[in-house]
Amino acid sequence: MTDIVERISHMLTEGGTDLYGGEAVTQTQHALQCAALAEAAGASPALIAASLLHDIGHFLDPEFEAALAADRDLEHETVGEAFLETAFGADVTRPVKMHVAAKRYLCATKDGYHAGLSEASKHSLALQGGPMTPDEVAAFETDPHYRDAIRLRVWDDRAKDPEAETPDVAHFMTFVTRSLRAA
Ligand SMILES: [Fe+2]
Repeated sequence: MTDIVERISHMLTEGGTDLYGGEAVTQTQHALQCAALAEAAGASPALIAASLLHDIGHFLDPEFEAALAADRDLEHETVGEAFLETAFGADVTRPVKMHVAAKRYLCATKDGYHAGLSEASKHSLALQGGPMTPDEVAAFETDPHYRDAIRLRVWDDRAKDPEAETPDVAHFMTFVTRSLRAA
């Protein structure tokens, strides 16, 4: 279990220097900002950890930037969920898995949401399937973690500020450690 904590910490500390696909912040800045917004909102430790780790699939896949450039969707949310499931429960893994679907959900259900997305996020929406259909919206709402996924998504969308100051990786790793599934 501590192996995965060390691996995550290493990825965030060493591996997150690439710009986050088409945005003005690095992968690690984006992760830290998302977690900081979750903490500021009084989220649970598990949801703060999920916010920090929601794009971990990008860190795991060195092909990510090349795929974005070529307009392929590598389903980083599925890669991330599979990685995290080895050590964390559904309160961490489901919001991670569902944060892309949450964008499609919000585009279908919330006026003005789509207009507020970054250009990169609007672009990837099309690759991810576009706004949800009414049936997809209804199915999404049956998942017990869907509200957490939506909260995470809203922080995700805001976590792209090149000027934002946040606590460091070590600060947020405490929430990751607290969220480990009991062995
Ligand atoms: Fe993100």
